[in-house]
Amino acid sequence: MADVHFTVNGKALTAPAGTLLIEACKQAHIEVPSFCYYPNLSLQAACRMCLVEIEKMPKLQTACTVVVTEGMNVNTDSETVHKARKSAIEFILTNHPLDCPVCDAGGECELQDMTFKYGAEKSRFVEPKRHREEQQWSPVVYFDRPRCILCYRCVRVCGEGMDVWALGVSNRGINATIIPNHQDHLECEECGNCIDICPVGALTSGAYRYQTRPWEMEHVGAICTFCGDGCKTTLGVRNDRVVRGDNRDKSGINGDFLCVKGRYGLDFTQHKDRLTQPLLRMGGELKPVSWAFALQTIAEKWKEIGKGNVGVIGSTRALNEEAYTLRKFAREVLGTPHLDHHRTADFPTLLSNAKSFATMSDLKTAPVVLLVGGNPTDEHPLVAWNIRWGYRLHKTRLYVLNRNEIKLRRQAYRYARVESEAAAIQFLNGKGKAAGAPLTGVGEASEKRWPQTPVSEPQTLDESLQDFRARLQQEQDVIMVISPDIAGDDLRQLIAFGNGLSGTTRYMLLGDNSNSRGASDMGLYPGEGGMNLEQMVNGSLPALYVAGANPFRLYPQTRDSLGQRFLVVQDLFLTETAQAADVVLPALSAYEKSGTITNTCGELQLQRRGGGFEGAKSDLEILYKLAIAMGADWGAANPERTLQEIRQQVPGYNVSLAKLMSGEAVLTGAGGKREEGKGGTLAPNHDTLFTAGTLGRYSATLNQVLERHLPDVTEAEEKTR
Ligand code: SF4
Ligand code: SF4
Ligand code: SF4
Ligand code: FES
Repeated sequence: MADVHFTVNGKALTAPAGTLLIEACKQAHIEVPSFCYYPNLSLQAACRMCLVEIEKMPKLQTACTVVVTEGMNVNTDSETVHKARKSAIEFILTNHPLDCPVCDAGGECELQDMTFKYGAEKSRFVEPKRHREEQQWSPVVYFDRPRCILCYRCVRVCGEGMDVWALGVSNRGINATIIPNHQDHLECEECGNCIDICPVGALTSGAYRYQTRPWEMEHVGAICTFCGDGCKTTLGVRNDRVVRGDNRDKSGINGDFLCVKGRYGLDFTQHKDRLTQPLLRMGGELKPVSWAFALQTIAEKWKEIGKGNVGVIGSTRALNEEAYTLRKFAREVLGTPHLDHHRTADFPTLLSNAKSFATMSDLKTAPVVLLVGGNPTDEHPLVAWNIRWGYRLHKTRLYVLNRNEIKLRRQAYRYARVESEAAAIQFLNGKGKAAGAPLTGVGEASEKRWPQTPVSEPQTLDESLQDFRARLQQEQDVIMVISPDIAGDDLRQLIAFGNGLSGTTRYMLLGDNSNSRGASDMGLYPGEGGMNLEQMVNGSLPALYVAGANPFRLYPQTRDSLGQRFLVVQDLFLTETAQAADVVLPALSAYEKSGTITNTCGELQLQRRGGGFEGAKSDLEILYKLAIAMGADWGAANPERTLQEIRQQVPGYNVSLAKLMSGEAVLTGAGGKREEGKGGTLAPNHDTLFTAGTLGRYSATLNQVLERHLPDVTEAEEKTR
């Protein structure tokens, strides 16, 4: 777009035509205060805080709704503007309770800051304030009506950003108030984005309220440990304890977004059942022992069992440095080829066949997205948020191929409901007929969005899919987002279809857990002649070492069924697997250690230590201690040194250290053909928004939320499993 030239406070500026004046000022470091304006949401012009003088315009104008034009002459610093700001704040404070000392937002409240900076010392309003009781709308959302400044940010983020539309406005004038969608309570996705976006303390978090003040916490940007999307969560840490997670630091790949798990799930770190001491089975019971004794017992037993006889099972939540070291430990110290992890997506096939990969942020501006299978709204909330973002702001054409009526069909340009995605892939590749239920057709939203595209009414599924395929074949720049259920030959065929499209096709395969991709990239796969996870658990190896996984949830075993087999488990809790162990070692959570994590797109990010936990050790430290106990000359654990080794040894990981250290997400490469991952079972978790496997069970907040949503979750599980 062509540039226009204009002046603000006598300073000559240039910006692309169509730029909002408030944004143009921000880029020139000229502050225009605002409450209701929020980038990338619709314009509201409700608060009047951004009033500025524009030459030749008779009245003050709202900078959040005016676009810059050629020759415009603006004054943001005049006497009139200052007076208008003062009045706006005075008006907003008319019925405000001024209870900053007990308000959760005190210290990080935009109204507080603006009042100090632009407000009047005295108010002319002397009428008594109208008090309203605080309301609890859900286990995690509280509303304090008198604090609300009616900026409508919450309404817009919930509707436009989340596509939930759970908040609205009731009444008019002084009686206007924000209301939840079910009279006195919310039924929604519980993401808490409305709380984050609220400029004041009107919406507060049930998980954090009244625990501490913002200035008493350290704020650490960490990576979420729930799904594979890799959102950055700002951990509020007080006395080495993680008190809250929020989105204060919007520098992550998730920008403004966090889902319910990333925001509230972190209280599992403080659960009373966290393991604080090593446990050793004595007389049939697990009893606390010292670290030294536990490590010595394990080493002696492993030596007795002999090299090559221990099966090693790694984690999809451990850091890359830990997964890499676990493989090294299995090979060098235990001399065993029996190594695997809970595989949640077929990353090796993706990396061997795809040429180009999409980042999480690419989705926000993608011209075309093809979503094959899965339900990102529930299972990969950031992916869904970014697809919606692209749809809203960049007119992304979304093609959905799915066996279920997933929520994202509401943004679909073309939506094909099929009985099986695998059959549909065959069809896309020109083989066979499309099997499955009749096509549901094009969603309502897409008709509104693309009224210029006439919607044909194909009579049969074959015709509809032909149309679907023909349209796709004409697209030039496609991001293919693939469900983890598509693996092996189906995945190869899908990629072949993508590679055959006329333009570039970038790929994204959705694996479940926070470091599923890292576990695969670090090579937690069987070596030559080695057993896979299922074979190790159900076979007769004399020893199993399970580092941060819970395979007995997938393949149940008990202490009795294991017989004489020696089982060592390291974990945070006494999981199903740990309950059957001979030795249990207490481990730290991802929020309590530093290293790197790879999200499902292959983006490498730094994990920073938030809190600590007395008695537990990181998986990396445990591995080093075990190696030394086994007689290996490994020295002390050092995550930075291990990262250097990963950069040299792991295909595609020789990325820019400078970018990584500055907090960027750095896309790793395919790094050549993979031979790994053959002959194993793939078992995607399909965790929903309110369930998060082993860790989620220990989050009191997620459990409260889950209880309210149980019928929905069961329904969703039935659909996707
Ligand atoms: S918690 Fe999320 S889904 Fe619920 S009302 Fe707030 S923004 Fe909407
Ligand atoms: S609750 Fe907060 S975000 Fe919503 S309108 Fe009121 S002040 Fe704005
Ligand atoms: S989308 Fe995934 S990574 Fe992001 S906050 Fe939610 S669970 Fe965590
Ligand atoms: S920010 Fe412009 S009117 Fe509120």
